[in-house]
Amino acid sequence: MKNKVSVIGAGRVGATAAQYIAEDELADVVMVDIVEGLPQGKSLDLLEAGPIRGFDSILSGSNDYKDTANSDIVVIAAGLARKPGMSREELLMKNSEIIKSITDKVVKESPNCIIIVVSNPLDVMTYLCWKLSGFSPKRVLGMAGTLDSARFRAFVAKELNVSVKDTQALVLGGHGDSMVPLPRYCTVCGIPITELIPKKRIDSIVERTRKAGGEIVDYLKTGSAYYSPGACAAEMVEVILKDKKRLLPCAAYLNGEYGLKDVYVGVPVILGASGAERIVEVDLTKEEKNALHASAEIVKKNIAKLGECV
Ligand code: 2OP
Repeated sequence: MKNKVSVIGAGRVGATAAQYIAEDELADVVMVDIVEGLPQGKSLDLLEAGPIRGFDSILSGSNDYKDTANSDIVVIAAGLARKPGMSREELLMKNSEIIKSITDKVVKESPNCIIIVVSNPLDVMTYLCWKLSGFSPKRVLGMAGTLDSARFRAFVAKELNVSVKDTQALVLGGHGDSMVPLPRYCTVCGIPITELIPKKRIDSIVERTRKAGGEIVDYLKTGSAYYSPGACAAEMVEVILKDKKRLLPCAAYLNGEYGLKDVYVGVPVILGASGAERIVEVDLTKEEKNALHASAEIVKKNIAKLGECV
């Protein structure tokens, strides 16, 4: 039986995620949006690319959640994107209304699905979606650590002129400027970059990683990144559907891990068929732990701003 993935939000991130999921033949894809015609048009366009790109995944578009029924995974990419000068947190109230309007419909149609949240501010929206869903936190995850780590990997690979395939990285914390890239755990074929790149250069790569989303917003002016977020969402979909048990940084619910409770932040997670199967706790220096806690504190403050909706 073919897998079914629904992508809520047919904007640039949602459409790109749908494209990669279809191109890799991970599942049939249903795109949903409140704008009439948008998911229908984009999904038809993608379907018509199938003969050229060589995929047989079926794409369809709808404004009705009934068409998402019995999805294995639902990717929530709906919501406003940042404009230049805006922080992800400034989207908080607007996007929380959108997540509220989506989650119960998703849950009603696909009570056994796994939800991947991509909307910003990522960690807060993932928390909100989890709370409203009534799901086990294993089945509600946020896509951000994969993106932040992908950016770190891309910059390191470019710096050293080596393949991204041999470059691994770990970024913890909230998906904002307070995120915590960990150079000690960034390696090229197992060699820590602290042995390959001078400290000053590492510091500047870390800083660029923290601000990488904003760098793209500043270039685009009318929206935020979508190729890399779409690719990362598709990667999480693949790992879950194929039960790969890959260790990926994701926004996951913490219940004491890393000394943090009742918050979603980016941590290394073993992803498999049942979602976030295990959170891996790596050793952190005092400085790294403080930075993670400071980042989680920002997420918690923003969760508190949601007030009565959680
Ligand atoms: C980013 O970092 C959109 O939050 C996303 O580019």
